[in-house]
Amino acid sequence: MKSSIFFVVLTFSLILLHSCQQDEKTTEESLKSVYKDNFHMGVALNTRQITGEDSIGRALIKEQFNSITAENIMKWMYLHPEPDRFDFNLADDFVEFGLENNMYILGHTLVWHSQLADWVHEMKDSASLAHYMLNHIDTILSRYKGKVNGWDVVNEALNEDGTLRNSVFYNIIGDKYISMAFQKAHSTDPEADLYYNDYNLCQEEKRNGAIRLIKSLQDKDVNIDGVGIQAHWSLVYPSIEEIETSILEYAKLGIEVMFTELDVTVLPNPWDLEGADVDQKFQNNEKMNPYPESLPDSVDVKLAQRYEEIFELFLKHEDKISRVTFWGVNDRYSWLNNWPIRGRTNYPLLFDRDYEPKQAYYRVVGVKEDSQVEAEESN
Ligand code: XIL
Repeated sequence: MKSSIFFVVLTFSLILLHSCQQDEKTTEESLKSVYKDNFHMGVALNTRQITGEDSIGRALIKEQFNSITAENIMKWMYLHPEPDRFDFNLADDFVEFGLENNMYILGHTLVWHSQLADWVHEMKDSASLAHYMLNHIDTILSRYKGKVNGWDVVNEALNEDGTLRNSVFYNIIGDKYISMAFQKAHSTDPEADLYYNDYNLCQEEKRNGAIRLIKSLQDKDVNIDGVGIQAHWSLVYPSIEEIETSILEYAKLGIEVMFTELDVTVLPNPWDLEGADVDQKFQNNEKMNPYPESLPDSVDVKLAQRYEEIFELFLKHEDKISRVTFWGVNDRYSWLNNWPIRGRTNYPLLFDRDYEPKQAYYRVVGVKEDSQVEAEESN
């Protein structure tokens, strides 16, 4: 009897010790704990991670990140497939996951020309489209009021030259669709943080367009809390200087700066090819997919260095940056395996195809650890 009690106590002690050690490992080594005093560390979840089918990915998300974005399932075509029908099943599960894990939940995205439901493209008059757009925002924000913390209210409204894109919303409602969308979001959930999100926002012409757009909203007293710089970047583009100038310029507007869809492609860019001949792309297929089996160490090192430089800059401006979100957990499921060319093997994230941390992960963690050592030494 005595010996069995002893074994029960021993087993419990070992379990306790083990879980304490695991906690210790998590708090010491995760991205979210390392950067906890600087900015949220976020990640985009795909459907497998939301349903739990990808249980390893889900566990890694809990361990490493404290903010989540839905990669696809909150886009218009999924949430609002017919004029009078919404489908919240997966979105509810996504939000539940964030709430359970005490995460900053980002709603992506309310008004965007892409991944729209077909019926929206059929709308012909301004009053009806405006009605449905406002109803879309109101229905979704009412449901997730007090649960979803922030929204990409308008996504990709700008052309590369900084003018407004000819989206269905712009063409039919006119440029006021943007302020209408922000105003509706604010009136439905006054507590939610509201963002404008776009790509290439570090490029001068487009950046100036975004600044004009944000200022025009502020001049009308429309609530806008921040700008989301998507950050689909490469090993060389954009330069650290361009990113830094952008952080400073956007911060001058008195809004939060966020990097919302960070990934770094290591593959050749088809737009660098001369001409846009489809056959040419086809012929260059092997050239366009140079690492189908594994990433050579020399490129892995370049990727790690690039991430290191990026995070050094983020840390330098941590007072202006509220969130950094990676566009996916690991390389296996990155959208960059299929865009802009389908079926390639890309390596843009911090975790590899087997969910193991890459050199880039250790560099990102190292940036913060080095800065702490420096701070201690100078004290
Ligand atoms: C991408 C998803 O990652 C893909 O799975 C999907 O097929 C297309 O959209 N800018 C955005 C994101 O705001 O929503 C996009 O996500 C990537 C570009």
